[in-house]
Amino acid sequence: MANNLLKGKRGIIFGALDENSIAWKTAQVIHEEGGAFVLTNAPIAMRLGKIDELAEECGSKVIPADATSVKDLENLVSQSVEILGGKLDFVLHSIGMSPNVRKGKSYGDLNYEWMQKSLDISAISFHKVMQTLEKQDAMNEWGSIIALSYIAAQRTYPDYSDMAQAKAMLESIARSYGERYGTLKNVRVNTISQSPTMTRAGSGVGGFDAFLEFAKNMSPLGNASAEACANYIAVMFSDFTRMVTMQNLMHDGGFSNSGMTQKVIDKILLK
Ligand SMILES: NC(=O)c1ccc[n+]([C@@H]2O[C@H](COP(=O)([O-])OP(=O)(O)OC[C@H]3O[C@@H](n4cnc5c(N)ncnc54)[C@H](O)[C@@H]3O)[C@@H](O)[C@H]2O)c1
Repeated sequence: MANNLLKGKRGIIFGALDENSIAWKTAQVIHEEGGAFVLTNAPIAMRLGKIDELAEECGSKVIPADATSVKDLENLVSQSVEILGGKLDFVLHSIGMSPNVRKGKSYGDLNYEWMQKSLDISAISFHKVMQTLEKQDAMNEWGSIIALSYIAAQRTYPDYSDMAQAKAMLESIARSYGERYGTLKNVRVNTISQSPTMTRAGSGVGGFDAFLEFAKNMSPLGNASAEACANYIAVMFSDFTRMVTMQNLMHDGGFSNSGMTQKVIDKILLK
């Protein structure tokens, strides 16, 4: 596409693990659109993933940070401003992990320490990122901050477990911090609620193939791909969306407003 939509803009991208990651695709689009950024991920993910390949492709630096550690975030933000040569215009929080989901714990047998971890990694970290940005006055006026959510924040899905609570909290943090940051600095804060997508985090959820198939048949446009999500994020980081804040933006091919579709009816009747 390359329209220089993000020319001159600087930011931080959390969560690019491998080429399937939504954050990976987003980094490629932002790079194409002229934006500059620092890439970050948890120190352990650095060893498992291939973030250095992406950094080379995008001419970016990589700074490890556990998003639950305020100390790591302070270092990340101050170093990013220094490396990029000025305050930031965009931040993508593309982070999710539940030990209960990963270890197959049923919802009636949750490990509560793990649940705290799920909430800390997948939701509270978003607050920590924004509080760190605010304390360091690291965002430019009219900057844009996005986190990725899922419709399990509003509706139940088997096996999504305590991630449903994490996403509900994430969306709530976006509203509360959006109100604060908008008033303080005209910075906008939103979540994008993405279709099920085949990534490392997505495929950790039990029955994920069925999630994908059901959502595809319930969405007039089909499931939104990671690439389509990356394009949407780029628009949300651009100056064309300056007045959008405190929203949970559905990026799901129409899934969230479909009660029933002909495709699903046909599938059931064919059985
Ligand atoms: N894949 C889907 O179906 C789907 C749908 C809707 C929303 N989302 C959300 O999109 C976001 C990105 O997920 P993805 O699907 O690209 O999968 P992914 O596995 O590629 O990305 C998840 C990232 O979170 C990072 N992470 C985990 N713990 C961390 C920590 N303590 N500190 C810093 N980073 C940490 C991982 O290293 C990984 O890079 C998540 O918030 C996810 O919940 C995914």
